[in-house]
Amino acid sequence: MSQTSPATGRPHRSAAWFQGDSINAMSSRAWLRSQGHSSSMFDGRPTIGVINSWADTTPCNVSLRQVAEHVKRGVYRAGGFPLELPVMSLGETLMKPTTMLYRNLMAMEVEECIRAYPFDGVVLLAGCDKTTPGMILGLASTDIPGIVVTSGPMLRSIRGTEELGGPSGLWKSYVAHRTGAMDDGIWREIESCVGRSAGHCGVMGSASTMAIVAEALGLTLPGNAAIPAVDSRRLALAEDSGYRIVQMVAEGLLPERILTRAAFDNAITALMAVGGSTNAIIHLTAIARRAGIALTLDDFDRISRRTPVIADVLPVGRRQMEDFFYAGGLPAVVHELGDLLDPDGVTVTGRSLRENCADARSLDARTIRSRDEALQRDGGIAVLRGNLCPDGAVIKHAAASPQLRRHRGRAVVFQNKADLSARIHDRALAVDASSVLVLRDSGPVGGPGMPEWGMLPIPLKLAEQGVTDMVRISDARMSGTSFGTCVLHISPESAVGGVLGLVEDGDEIELDIPNRRLDLLVGDEELARRRERWTPPAHPPRRGFTWLYTQHVDQADKGADFGFLAGRTSAAEQMYQPTDQ
Ligand code: FES
Repeated sequence: MSQTSPATGRPHRSAAWFQGDSINAMSSRAWLRSQGHSSSMFDGRPTIGVINSWADTTPCNVSLRQVAEHVKRGVYRAGGFPLELPVMSLGETLMKPTTMLYRNLMAMEVEECIRAYPFDGVVLLAGCDKTTPGMILGLASTDIPGIVVTSGPMLRSIRGTEELGGPSGLWKSYVAHRTGAMDDGIWREIESCVGRSAGHCGVMGSASTMAIVAEALGLTLPGNAAIPAVDSRRLALAEDSGYRIVQMVAEGLLPERILTRAAFDNAITALMAVGGSTNAIIHLTAIARRAGIALTLDDFDRISRRTPVIADVLPVGRRQMEDFFYAGGLPAVVHELGDLLDPDGVTVTGRSLRENCADARSLDARTIRSRDEALQRDGGIAVLRGNLCPDGAVIKHAAASPQLRRHRGRAVVFQNKADLSARIHDRALAVDASSVLVLRDSGPVGGPGMPEWGMLPIPLKLAEQGVTDMVRISDARMSGTSFGTCVLHISPESAVGGVLGLVEDGDEIELDIPNRRLDLLVGDEELARRRERWTPPAHPPRRGFTWLYTQHVDQADKGADFGFLAGRTSAAEQMYQPTDQ
């Protein structure tokens, strides 16, 4: 293996740690040799960080321990020196108030580890919802090659011969149990059927979506997103990824060459074509800002309007990620999308996304359809504007009820999540099926961290009458596995003075998805009077990271990132190196 980078003609970055007779170099080698590494590992070969978000507390990522071993195999095979390290992990089901509160913290840890350790390239192991964007944000802020390997979806959830629909089906089962349509025994049995294997949620929720987005951005080997966690082909892909990163170091294939405008357009197109999670909008916006690419909510709406939904996968469609894999995964989607994708750009393979997928075909037209047989003619997500959301709001209308696409109703306002939990199922609550449920104080600052509270529950008394959907609006996010006519990410949020904070019970609200509007039908003078009386919601004292977060987090339309992390202008200058004594 070359001791210098063929791309730059200079020694690898890690040489500053491992080469020579200084006390720094000697101690760097000596402490690693305590693990049994031979001297050949310090012959100038590239050092590859295998950054792992494995954790017992993140069940979706538990298989990454094994994946890491296969990545290392590939690194050794290519003549590199792999060093695995753990980073903070974000377990969606256990972490409160929300993993989103900690996405930026994880991204900072990934970035700082890349800067501080002797890595020439990194392989990023992620899976659960926020771990993939956390890793990519960290990588985008640095200046060494990186490749992503995700944990892969779990096997399809099934009870007997009945498809449960993973987490999307779980929401429906919950309502059925609460309204008495499902008995306790079945409800308890479902618990053992929803997650039958290692892997992340097996529908097109946020984890699957972000795996698709990572692949479409060009940051993974082709086919990565859909291979089930327990399929041996995932381990083979992990080995190939380890092999490839060593080549990428030799080629000098940096993130800035991959994360181009074309890559983001392709990622948005893929997001729309698979009916992906609204969370991806926030993550892609944040990644683009770090990469220095100007991306706005209007870009998402523009691409959504021209992109058909061709993946028949829950929650927009009917099938699960396991089926999506058998149908060909993202490469088959890329083939079907054809000229809707930008032919330019380069991925981790050194080729473009379309070149990577030239030989792919849909192997199951029921799951990955042709454009002519699309599930929906235009993309699944719309960006709304109006006096309630001057900086934008988002709705996944592919998962909304057609009869609510245009709707006018009276507001039933909940001040925060605690108020919602206390009153939503109160039989005395003045609400009917035409009401618009309003939740505030759930944005980046208010939540804090913009929790996934946006699919407000249907009041029990209405659910018992058969009501399954209502218009719901908030400054929160929604799980990618959720569904319904839920307007999300209202910006600016209520906690910083957004109009959402001025809505009162009984106000009329108009949603018009075809015309991309969301309006509070209250006059400007009355709103001005309300604004004079408005005071920010009270929150418990915030300390530590939560204090830092609420001081510096941007609004949803900016990706809910920290303003001080935007841009990549000084990335190269801030890569640390040891200094000799
Ligand atoms: Fe981890 Fe759904 S809980 S991906």
